[in-house]
Amino acid sequence: MTTAAKTPPSVIVIFGAAGDLTGRKLVPALYHLASQELLANEFAMIGIDRADMDSQAYRDYLSASAEDHIGKHFSDELWQSKIPRAYYMQGDFLDDKTYTDLKKKLLKIDKEQNTPGNYLFYLATPPRFFGEIAQRLKSSGLAEEENGLWRRLIVEKPFGNDLQSAQELNRNLHQSFQEHQIYRIDHYLGKETVQNIMTYRFGNGTVEPIWNHHYIDHVQITVAESLGVENRASYYDHAGAMRDMVPNHLLALLSIIAMEPPNSFNADAIRDEQTKVLKCIQPFSPEMVLTHAVRGQYDEGQNEQGDRMPAYRDEPDIADGSNTETYVALKLMIDTWRWAGVPFYLRTGKRLPKRCTEVVIQYRHAPNMMFRDALVKRNNVAPNRLVIRIQPNEGISLQFNAKVPGTLPRLSTVNMEFNYSDYFGDKPSTGYETLIYDCMCGDATLFKRADNIEAGWELVQPILDVWSALPARTFPNYAAGSWGPQKADDLLAKAGHQWSTHP
Ligand SMILES: NC(=O)c1ccc[n+]([C@@H]2O[C@H](COP(=O)([O-])OP(=O)(O)OC[C@H]3O[C@@H](n4cnc5c(N)ncnc54)[C@H](OP(=O)(O)O)[C@@H]3O)[C@@H](O)[C@H]2O)c1
Repeated sequence: MTTAAKTPPSVIVIFGAAGDLTGRKLVPALYHLASQELLANEFAMIGIDRADMDSQAYRDYLSASAEDHIGKHFSDELWQSKIPRAYYMQGDFLDDKTYTDLKKKLLKIDKEQNTPGNYLFYLATPPRFFGEIAQRLKSSGLAEEENGLWRRLIVEKPFGNDLQSAQELNRNLHQSFQEHQIYRIDHYLGKETVQNIMTYRFGNGTVEPIWNHHYIDHVQITVAESLGVENRASYYDHAGAMRDMVPNHLLALLSIIAMEPPNSFNADAIRDEQTKVLKCIQPFSPEMVLTHAVRGQYDEGQNEQGDRMPAYRDEPDIADGSNTETYVALKLMIDTWRWAGVPFYLRTGKRLPKRCTEVVIQYRHAPNMMFRDALVKRNNVAPNRLVIRIQPNEGISLQFNAKVPGTLPRLSTVNMEFNYSDYFGDKPSTGYETLIYDCMCGDATLFKRADNIEAGWELVQPILDVWSALPARTFPNYAAGSWGPQKADDLLAKAGHQWSTHP
């Protein structure tokens, strides 16, 4: 078996080192990379945060949470051998002294750990700091790439909260770092199954010839969450489901499903195609917002276990009478020869019956001439569906029709299943491993480029504008634990479609 090469020797500097993301995802991801022997021997991490700690106290703090978050794959022996490479610096992100201290600390660590001066700056901070930190790194000389050494910046989502703020953020970042140094992370793209969509499409001779409007009737992309707003109320009540999920996760999935084959596996070749397809989506006119976009907010209801769940407006820290949407469904049309006339339905929401992310490709009906005079009518013959499950139970299934044994010509839909874990086992992963590894290796394929981010916001901005001009009058309009508002079903029914019952 071929094993991947180790990362180049480098130091990762995490801003927001005592925050939730660092503890739950980034440190476990670095641990998994270390356990797979993918980190260079010359590697170190510096955490920066305002919490009052020294490096030893930070190591103790990480040790206390690591076992919890790494779970059954945690090995104390491995942890103890790696943890001396973690350092801590107390500092304010907005204080210039933090950056002069950081520069000195990096030089010291380069000597101690034999690292050559390659630095990855990870902004695990609230978004208001992204531009500020980038600019201070630049002023202190830490953004400059010299003598073959690299300086990279990972920026977490959200990348703006509308088109204007996204453009402003890109402009700010570009004043300090060049585009090739900026890695905008969307952890959805770190998931194996998402990457596998490209392999499935372009690595199999049977798939691509029928991946077009001649054979595909419509596409559904679902990102369903069973949880409510949890502890993100202050952010979520301002953002809502559209900003939180659509320009990033849902459009990332759509662009991989709908893009043209890139001419190579080069990062820019792939990202060019992804941006191109986003730009080919028919823009929303105000009239289309009324007919092609549905918003919803959950009322009280109950989950599958029969537990009562409160209405969104009754959740802690949600504004009284909040009009924030917790559900979105969209119908998109892509103006390319490949996708002419094929609707792409996207939906995402909170407090739906299940946590589930999947893409359903519904193929056109077979002509069924041979069944004309039989017991089966055309509409009773289920269409073929390809279901790509991103989470949980990662895999792909193909639904097709088979003859029910017996003398009557009866058909039944059956499933051909591929489960990722059956073939490849369960590899411990937070979804961040591949992304951090790729960034250290300089591979930007799975990261968003500035034009890709802006193309996503350009698409949703007219919807946000209409929704803010016409506040929803029917909220709440779906029960917690249901599949969303009736209007989302009507959106498909108008074209004779219905949401896949599979989730
Ligand atoms: N958490 C997730 O699962 C997740 C998932 C996807 C994306 N993200 C994104 O990742 C980023 C970080 O999220 P998070 O949940 O980890 O946030 P967080 O828990 O608030 O972490 C931020 C850390 O930065 C510290 N901090 C804030 N202001 C500072 C300052 N001026 N100087 C020094 N330290 C300061 C905070 O300290 P205090 O606690 O004292 O404020 C906190 O320890 C956000 O952009 C978020 O949108 C997070």
